[in-house]
Amino acid sequence: MYHNPVLLQKSIEGLNIIPDGVYVDVTFGGGGHSKAILHKLAGGRLIAFDQDTDAVKNTIDDERFILVNHNFQFLKNFLRLHQVSQVNGILADLGVSSHQFDVPERGFSTRFDAPLDMRMSQNQQNTAADIVNTYPEEELRRLLKDYGELKNSWCISKAIMETRESGAINTTAELIEYIQKCFPQHKRNKFLAQVFQALRIELNDEMQTLKLLLEQANELLIPGGRLVVISYHSLEDRLVKNFIKSGNFSGIINKDFYGNPIVSFKPITRKPIVPDDEEIKKNNRARSAKLRIAEKL
Ligand SMILES: C[S@@+](CC[C@H](N)C(=O)[O-])C[C@H]1O[C@@H](n2cnc3c(N)ncnc32)[C@H](O)[C@@H]1O
Repeated sequence: MYHNPVLLQKSIEGLNIIPDGVYVDVTFGGGGHSKAILHKLAGGRLIAFDQDTDAVKNTIDDERFILVNHNFQFLKNFLRLHQVSQVNGILADLGVSSHQFDVPERGFSTRFDAPLDMRMSQNQQNTAADIVNTYPEEELRRLLKDYGELKNSWCISKAIMETRESGAINTTAELIEYIQKCFPQHKRNKFLAQVFQALRIELNDEMQTLKLLLEQANELLIPGGRLVVISYHSLEDRLVKNFIKSGNFSGIINKDFYGNPIVSFKPITRKPIVPDDEEIKKNNRARSAKLRIAEKL
């Protein structure tokens, strides 16, 4: 299977679909969420995005559907190209698909020995190997700390710098071998997953593209339209939470001249919705998912 959709029912309910509305699924993947949206449409349209060329083979043959094989940071431009200026709902199921994890040569997984690639879009030039082999030590430490939430980021960046003196690090297995001395006594797998996550977020500029997406969602949604976001790590979730609360990424609510709060969204869920035990049992990759739903004011 290409990808098992996470929190499917709750996220589709969150969109509060109007049958003749216009909806956007910015992370098409295997099309699980898109198919469920189409199922609820009658007269409406769905525009989906995925920057991974592999996702294109899952496209849906339906005249109400368009798949855009580009980064969702260009959401507004591509919608304009398809004569769409306002939408009723936007769904984002962030991160990496199971397919991307499971194909060894994509380099996302710690389970296989593969080139250090990790590009979500095959059209991108740089790979994770470029980060590992060219970034200054300070920058490596920053991204490992910020995006991997690794306490010993200094140890990993130092080990990478030392290794670089005698040659390039080209594969996932080489990277794992050279940073071995930084492994904590327990939780080796979790530690490696955090290292890989940090490299992936940096390479694909995931935090910046999420910010661009949220800002455009704010402009595109009609009043009453829904924003539905599933995130998989705390950094993403914090951005989404702050944006829904305050319309900015600091989470600080600005006030107008009279002291009234200036907000763009009403949160539909005060706390994020998480998968139940049954879903996690069936699909372990759902375990870190957090779903937030907001309505445009
Ligand atoms: C978790 S999967 C989505 C799975 C999908 N909801 C399903 O049911 O199959 C995330 C997908 O979003 C894509 N993606 C992630 N960031 C993107 C971006 N900035 N622009 C376009 N696609 C992106 C990835 O390539 C991946 O296929």
